[in-house]
Amino acid sequence: MAESKSPDWDKIHSDFPVNDQLIWLNNCGTTPLGDPIRATVNRWLEEYGRRGVDAEGFSYAGVKASIYQRLGSLLNARPGELALVHNTSEGMNFISHGLSLEPGDEILLLENEYPSNVYPWEHWREKGVHIRAIPMTGRPEDFPATFADLAGPRTRLASLSAVHWCTGMPFPLDAIGKVCAERGITWVVDGSQGVGLVDMDVQAAGIHYMAFSAWKWLLGPLGLGVLYIARNRLEDLRPIFKGTESVPQDNEYLPYKQAWKPTADRFAVSTGSMTDWVYFDASLAYLEEIGFQHVKERIRFLAKRLEDGLRGAGFSVLSDGWGATSGIVAVSREGLDASEAVKSLKGGKIIAAERLGRIRLAPHVYNSEKQIDKVVAVMAALG
Ligand SMILES: Cc1ncc(COP(=O)(O)O)c(C=O)c1O
Repeated sequence: MAESKSPDWDKIHSDFPVNDQLIWLNNCGTTPLGDPIRATVNRWLEEYGRRGVDAEGFSYAGVKASIYQRLGSLLNARPGELALVHNTSEGMNFISHGLSLEPGDEILLLENEYPSNVYPWEHWREKGVHIRAIPMTGRPEDFPATFADLAGPRTRLASLSAVHWCTGMPFPLDAIGKVCAERGITWVVDGSQGVGLVDMDVQAAGIHYMAFSAWKWLLGPLGLGVLYIARNRLEDLRPIFKGTESVPQDNEYLPYKQAWKPTADRFAVSTGSMTDWVYFDASLAYLEEIGFQHVKERIRFLAKRLEDGLRGAGFSVLSDGWGATSGIVAVSREGLDASEAVKSLKGGKIIAAERLGRIRLAPHVYNSEKQIDKVVAVMAALG
């Protein structure tokens, strides 16, 4: 890994053809494809054309293992704790339907949470389990106390995002994990907005289960997601599906097996989307080459430049309430309609989103200072 070498940001900017067309600041939504990643996917497809699954340099097991290894090192997950799925919702459904709760138990979720961490829990209502939303606090450091106050004797599970998708507020995962450990609460994380953006150590934070999507801060393909299951929680999660790859030695098809794989990979169920895996492995390799620490710092640097510029242009910057940007910038200005502003920005080839009445902007490593300054100038003139 090139963690100490200073990355060549101009080269990284030129790796992303989207920069010739648009200023893409919706990277916490989806991320456009970079050329080096596309080159690897092209190479796989060419090889697949030539030799099918015997493609040189791309073995099914090898690519999967490589993704698990790269993510394991990013998250401090132990071998055997990850499974490739398709999206956060699928991962959350595996968790929600696999756990055992009793009528009268309680699940805590987050106010205005993304649907992928709400809908998978709803089936519990029919089974007499209560679901409550924890209100957002003004500052991340106040959240663990609010959470601890709200958690009651029947609170069995909390499922929270690592970073709020609308406001960009990062949650203090280690402190929340401590409350969960003290109260015997199963601790589930929606990592979609956090993995690759903020420091996450699943062991230090005591996370039991996590699901996240590949196509945000990790620059991966749409339709690929990851499930994390702490080793000591694997047997608490009853798999709702059993498929060809749920069992040990899954390439020996007969006789059928009763046993489950001894790892989280049993939840990958069966034949995976190999082309997406190659894409994801290449995007992780690309970020590793830059160095994840450089990646996170660069995103924060660009986000801060955006926040400073927009503040100077009369915008209220939401993260000023807690004094540090996470990388997702949420701003508003009196008299400016956020939806109209986002439409107008799109007309000027600047891609942002409206969330909770604010304009949300999320830069990534391939954006440039020049782009950020242009966005500030355009937004200063809005309305
Ligand atoms: C907090 C959060 N979770 C999950 C997702 C993605 O959900 P899924 O992977 O189910 O499409 C998003 C996407 O915006 C998100 O912001």
